[in-house]
Amino acid sequence: MLIKKSVDIRYSEVTPKSVYLDRRKFLAGLPAAFLAGRELLSPSSRALAGTKLPALAKSPFSTTEKENSYKDVSTYNNFYEFGTGKDQPAKLAQNFKTDPWTVSVEGDCAKPRKFSMDEILKVSPLEERIYRHRCVEAWSIVVPWAGYSLSALLKQVEPTPKAKFVAFESYYNLGQMPQARYSGLQLPYVEGLRLDEAMHPLTMLTVGMYGETLPPQDGAPVRLTVPWKYGFKSAKSLVKIRLVDKMPPSTWNLTNPVEYGFYSNVNPHVDHPRWSQAEERRLGEFRKRPTLMFNGYGDQVAHLYDGMDLKKNF
Ligand code: MTE
Repeated sequence: MLIKKSVDIRYSEVTPKSVYLDRRKFLAGLPAAFLAGRELLSPSSRALAGTKLPALAKSPFSTTEKENSYKDVSTYNNFYEFGTGKDQPAKLAQNFKTDPWTVSVEGDCAKPRKFSMDEILKVSPLEERIYRHRCVEAWSIVVPWAGYSLSALLKQVEPTPKAKFVAFESYYNLGQMPQARYSGLQLPYVEGLRLDEAMHPLTMLTVGMYGETLPPQDGAPVRLTVPWKYGFKSAKSLVKIRLVDKMPPSTWNLTNPVEYGFYSNVNPHVDHPRWSQAEERRLGEFRKRPTLMFNGYGDQVAHLYDGMDLKKNF
């Protein structure tokens, strides 16, 4: 018999009693056929990490490479608001309150508005996309994310011709993130993409991973995932998305412009000033593997940079 030790049990496998009772009340009101074979996102459980998402469509954008384990992806994180150590966010973000949550989509658009998480979940059918994710620190992971193309959300607000870039802002509250004081970063965490990068179908608004809602340390309840760029472009726990006419600031570029540019495309030919970007180590593996231009997504995205010097625009 296989007995799980408490450390092997995922947060998602443990349902607090109050949530269990609330779920029963919620489920009682729904037709059985609707419930068959599905776990639902009840309002009471949505705040928790690891709530099972409804069936996810498969995406043609998925890699067939071996996925990392949930443990790899949820215990080795960069989320400086919850500590600068890789193991800190998993421990210090557990009580992060992500319900209720709204994302304001605003700026140069005809229909600026705020979206609740319920509304975000309804903008487009959720897909599972297995993406390679390459961190600037030369490690990489393969993650089955859940979400849809950011373009679907941006289209809702009807960007005007003035919009040339998209600025992203993460939630920031020292009350919930006391460790952020020691991050060394100017917060809130901000990032940006050119409008055509943001509208590219690979750019994903991510609400889950491994078929479940995101755990806090991975950017709950909603984050960005831009698979051809270094991981730091993928801002977590988004609260604001602003269409703008000028290149917006980005946290790592503000912090250290010599080391971190705006574009941050994965590029094995442009070394970080303090280390090589030619190779990477997949979490859980010992061997190093060569890093691919645009993280292997060149066929889909290289044309976005035609005529640009990607050594200067790093
Ligand atoms: N978003 C916020 N708000 N704060 C952060 O510190 N770190 C970035 C990015 N998004 C960060 C963030 C960096 S440096 C990386 S590599 C990725 O998140 C890490 O994502 P992961 O923990 O899901 O692998």
